[in-house]
Amino acid sequence: MAGKRGALIVLEGVDRAGKTTQCKKLVQALQQNGRPAEMMRFPDRSTTIGQLISSYLEKKSDLEDHTVHLLFSANRWELVPLMKKKLEQGINLVVDRYAFSGVAFTSAKPGFCLDWCKNPDVGLPKPDLVMFLKLSPTEASLRGQFGEERYETSVFQRAVQQKFEHLMKDASVNWQFCSLGLPILPLTAFHWTWTPNDVIDASASIEDVHEDIATHSLNTVSTVENQPLGELWK
Ligand code: TMP
Repeated sequence: MAGKRGALIVLEGVDRAGKTTQCKKLVQALQQNGRPAEMMRFPDRSTTIGQLISSYLEKKSDLEDHTVHLLFSANRWELVPLMKKKLEQGINLVVDRYAFSGVAFTSAKPGFCLDWCKNPDVGLPKPDLVMFLKLSPTEASLRGQFGEERYETSVFQRAVQQKFEHLMKDASVNWQFCSLGLPILPLTAFHWTWTPNDVIDASASIEDVHEDIATHSLNTVSTVENQPLGELWK
């Protein structure tokens, strides 16, 4: 590798957990620490595929469930060349949702197994850090605009959260956890069984959550800058 590469950092969580706010604050914090950073989000609604997805989410069109799952995945793959280019240029990417949302949301629908849902995303650039923002579906429903788009019901979000919990047991993914106020420890340091307290508590103040996320991220950026980018679920 010619120079130092950027880190691929992903924020995940149920709808309305505050991911977008935190992504923006993290980009600023990285930049202020002299680390070039840009934000991306999935779905990226600006592409042709993204527009199909957007119309589906806004309930302006219907798509068959397998079809829309593959479109979400295709929307990530179409951005891979750009992501790799930026990472190689040393730009840290802060990504609002990734393949984990893809798998959690589709597998929460009846008749879908986790393996089928994961397959289209196998081999995507592997995030160096994935942070999950925890928020109870009840609390999420009290936050703004809940219920306007497809999937925004408490019942469905509860099912999605369970699927996320399952995905977080996969030690091959760089999930990080911390409890506010406790030292940060890598997930691999533990024989870990997921409990709701082991993730970032999105109901804490925006600043506390941000501090937590920024600390994890700055550590990761320094750790991975000379390491090759991995492939997800491979
Ligand atoms: P957002 O643009 O507000 O984050 O909402 C996107 C919605 O799409 C959200 O309900 C999660 C869902 N989703 C999927 O179903 N599959 C995916 O692959 C992704 C990235 C999001």
